[in-house]
Amino acid sequence: MVKVAPSILSADFSNLGSELKSMADAGADYLHYDVMDGHFVPNISYGPVVLESIAPGTRLVKDVHLMITDPDKYIPAFARAGADIISFQAEASRDYGKSIALIKKHGVMPAIVLNPDTRPELILPVLHTVKMVLVMSVYPGFGGQSFIKEVLNKVTALKKYRESHNLDFAIEIDGGVNTQNAAEIRAAGVDVIVAGSAFFKADNRAQFINSLKHD
Ligand code: DX5
Ligand code: ZN
Repeated sequence: MVKVAPSILSADFSNLGSELKSMADAGADYLHYDVMDGHFVPNISYGPVVLESIAPGTRLVKDVHLMITDPDKYIPAFARAGADIISFQAEASRDYGKSIALIKKHGVMPAIVLNPDTRPELILPVLHTVKMVLVMSVYPGFGGQSFIKEVLNKVTALKKYRESHNLDFAIEIDGGVNTQNAAEIRAAGVDVIVAGSAFFKADNRAQFINSLKHD
């Protein structure tokens, strides 16, 4: 069954503790933590300090998505702050193998992210070393954008490659997911679904997560 990862980018930060509790109560699997530096993307979010403060209080898997220039410089700090998974943007890393090794060295699961325009062929040589590939279904930087349907072709291609090469990385999708497009996304073979604005806006968050997981 697919896992659901609410992105706290759309949470109410004046009530972060209860937002985190509501995520767990609603049946979320991961906590998606979007890090933006105002350089790789035009927006700024939060860094390791906030993660360090919330990590001990939640049993959700801390899924840290680095939308930053020079990820290698900050991987150790996010690992120390409590990340379980760290994903870095393929477009920002000078050496995928080096970034992956650095994440592993800190005892964290490595993942690599592809922007909507980035070809999956670029990451084929490292796919046997990652736990997850994150396929962006919006251009990173902001919550609440519309889903770019064409990226589902990339999901299908990655899934096919995984099968034919006997690999076991998970495929995560991030951006613009809602109850209307979830069935199609599941059908493409996604394993982890990120949802930010749609989750935090839902009247019934448990029902929302259910509808991302089942028809
Ligand atoms: C986009 C972020 C996403 C975003 C998802 O830059 O990486 O994780 O918060 O938000 P929604 O679900 O609102 O598109
Ligand atoms: Zn994200």
